[in-house]
Amino acid sequence: MADVEWWRTAVIYQIYIRSFADGNGDGIGDIAGIRSRLGYLAGLGVDAIWITPWYASPGNDGGYDVSDYRAIAPEYGDVHEAEQLVAAAHRHGLRVILDIVPNHTSTDHLWFQAALAAPPGSPERARYHFLDGSGAPNDWRSTFGGPAWTRVPDGQWYLHLFDPTQADLNWSNPEVRAEFLDLLRFWFDRGVDGFRIDVATGLVKHPGYPDLGYREEDLLVLTDVPDHPHRDRDEVHAIYRDWREVADAYDPPRVFVAEAWVADPDRLARYVAPAQLHTAFNFPFLQSAWDAGDLFTVIDSTLRTMALSGAPPTWVLSNHDVERTVTRYGRADTRKHQGRSGHELGPVDEELGRRRARAALLLMLALPGVAYLYQGEELGLPDHLDIPDDRLRDPIWTRSGGRRRGRDGCRVPLPWTPAPDGAGFGSADPWLPQPSGWGRLSVARQVADPDSTYGLVARALRIRRELDVPQELEWVDRAGSVLRLRRGPYFECVVNLGATEVPLPADTVTLLRSDTHAEERAPLGPDTAAWLRVRDGTAEWT
Ligand code: GLC
Ligand code: CA
Repeated sequence: MADVEWWRTAVIYQIYIRSFADGNGDGIGDIAGIRSRLGYLAGLGVDAIWITPWYASPGNDGGYDVSDYRAIAPEYGDVHEAEQLVAAAHRHGLRVILDIVPNHTSTDHLWFQAALAAPPGSPERARYHFLDGSGAPNDWRSTFGGPAWTRVPDGQWYLHLFDPTQADLNWSNPEVRAEFLDLLRFWFDRGVDGFRIDVATGLVKHPGYPDLGYREEDLLVLTDVPDHPHRDRDEVHAIYRDWREVADAYDPPRVFVAEAWVADPDRLARYVAPAQLHTAFNFPFLQSAWDAGDLFTVIDSTLRTMALSGAPPTWVLSNHDVERTVTRYGRADTRKHQGRSGHELGPVDEELGRRRARAALLLMLALPGVAYLYQGEELGLPDHLDIPDDRLRDPIWTRSGGRRRGRDGCRVPLPWTPAPDGAGFGSADPWLPQPSGWGRLSVARQVADPDSTYGLVARALRIRRELDVPQELEWVDRAGSVLRLRRGPYFECVVNLGATEVPLPADTVTLLRSDTHAEERAPLGPDTAAWLRVRDGTAEWT
């Protein structure tokens, strides 16, 4: 664990705690479950885990509505167990990143309860955005649907850019700033290696609360609007300079990754400027269609911009907010659609989607910098598109009046064993139902099968670690529908995004192919990728 620069090249596994592993059989994932699976994660070969919010919370938005940042939700465990988990993860050689939610607190938070009990104009209300008005103070909309303002009994309105139970904090208030520096220290003192910053672009609001002038109904809209009143405002960067100072005061220094939905790589680079955050998610990559030209454009612009900033590029294909790649790539239109998901986007060919998802994993893991894997991605899981309406938990479902089904489809509990109907998660009735037939995708089945998606990812991670190739990337071919890139003199990745097969380049040796069952030197079929070693005549490389 000596390498303080680990975060520049790490593979980080996202744990959605509620659905990862259940330690006590109540149908809800928990800390004990994570602990029991550290061996699995180390065996898979990842370097770190990022755990989604596990703090005390009424759970109206999957824990992104925190009522006490220094306590653990009882269904997950307690702070002592959390500390023990961090220590155990370190013993397995895994770093631990937590999720911090600074844009809003739950309305159950002591601060918000105090604000409700206090009069307009009080210091308690000044920690949030309370405004007067006979109607909503402006036209801002909640990301989950509906207006972003809710009225309290004395007539004032408070701002919530997400669910009404997630009240936006006022970051121009010094008490808010000081509290979060203290929270960072609270968890850093417990051995945590870093934080993923939720809604990192949203903290600062225009002090005049001007109207937006249009409706932004979609979830996480990815358009950069100049001088947007509550997104990506310049003043947000001062906050992260303060956070960096706190992280740097630790030995080893702690690290950050920003959840920053911005379209322009130059805007993204501002979050990773010197003395600010270490890394930021690169969402344009996750949104790209399965198309050689589109992928090349986003990879190339990412590399160029990040090279200027000195921060490593990051790559992510799925997370708990978006459809899984097996599902998205299985459609005729493979782009990510803002705020839309499921059957409304058209039929899914799951086998096609999985073939592409496997090739995409080899592409992502061949790129320089940091890669994120979302739990179940290593199993090639699809979304569950048919969760019964009355089992949906995402606030998007209710806030949109049933128009948008939301994100539950990618949050289904993992199948650890082939036992049917959720029993493979560890309980007969997990908090979200599993689709039938997930037994064949279970961990138990896949670890025993070298051709499984698990087998592919585990081998890729081993090769990635052993080769330790230079961070530079050179394009050998990017014309047409084949992407061929080189890292250093010996390592190549070729991806065929076209409709016809292509021969493997001469003078190479196959290290790994996404169609693991194929002949090593067989031509590369459509939607397939290969990792190759370039022959140089020395024994080491042949
Ligand atoms: C982030 C989280 C998402 C959550 C939202 C509000 O986008 O990833 O799950 O709903 O923030 O906290
Ligand atoms: Ca449990």
